[in-house]
Amino acid sequence: MRTKPIVHIIGLGPGGPDLVTRGALDLIESVETQFLRTERHPAAVVMPHAQWFDRLYDTAASTDDVYPSIRDAVVRAALSDSEVLYAVPGSPVVAEHSVQLLLADERVEVRVHPAMSFLDLAWARLGVDPVAVGARLIDGYLFAEHLLDLSGSGPVLVAQCDNRFILSDIKLASEEALVDSVTVLHHLGLDDEAIFEVPWDDLDRSFEPDHLTSLWLSSVQRRVRPGRIRGRRR
Ligand SMILES: C[S@@+](CC[C@H](N)C(=O)[O-])C[C@H]1O[C@@H](n2cnc3c(N)ncnc32)[C@H](O)[C@@H]1O
Repeated sequence: MRTKPIVHIIGLGPGGPDLVTRGALDLIESVETQFLRTERHPAAVVMPHAQWFDRLYDTAASTDDVYPSIRDAVVRAALSDSEVLYAVPGSPVVAEHSVQLLLADERVEVRVHPAMSFLDLAWARLGVDPVAVGARLIDGYLFAEHLLDLSGSGPVLVAQCDNRFILSDIKLASEEALVDSVTVLHHLGLDDEAIFEVPWDDLDRSFEPDHLTSLWLSSVQRRVRPGRIRGRRR
């Protein structure tokens, strides 16, 4: 019986090459055909021979088109080369839509190799056990959609806060301030790591976020009334 081609999926950790696992480095040494979701990652240097997909983010009509295109390119290569390596930032099982699409693809056998996520660094820096405090994790782009669930629910970590428009959407999602101040987790694991507080009202005008920025709302105790949710402006 013909076996399916194999797609190994690794994560490059949340920061520089020092946070890439030994197992991931061994696969980079041994699997010839290699892909990296984005070259915009501080550990991308460990995969000098990989092809990356950044151009898709620039040329696709919408970001919804990017991930199926990545899946198709990786599967096509696996069908031709029988074994390929696909790498993503952080952990492959945390907020990686292309990994979910590959896992659902019956043309290939997918082997996911666990790695450190930015979440591991976040909990360590904050001194928080997410299970003990019942932390919630959400995507900044979906903040308004989740607002009713979030308010009154305790601590929340918000990922994907990569530009000021998103920070504005988060701040203006509710007519009332959700918390007095927010902890910004910026470039965790890098030399210029910064963790600082900003007042809720200054969230979208006091620092420059990027693809390595997250927010920690230590306690969203205030309840938002449904009529006070603005939703996304864009
Ligand atoms: C698409 S998710 C991918 C997460 C990745 N798979 C992981 O496990 O680290 C990307 C988001 O994770 C957060 N993030 C990733 N690396 C980070 C870092 N070094 N410092 C702070 N936040 C980070 C940011 O919010 C970013 O927008």
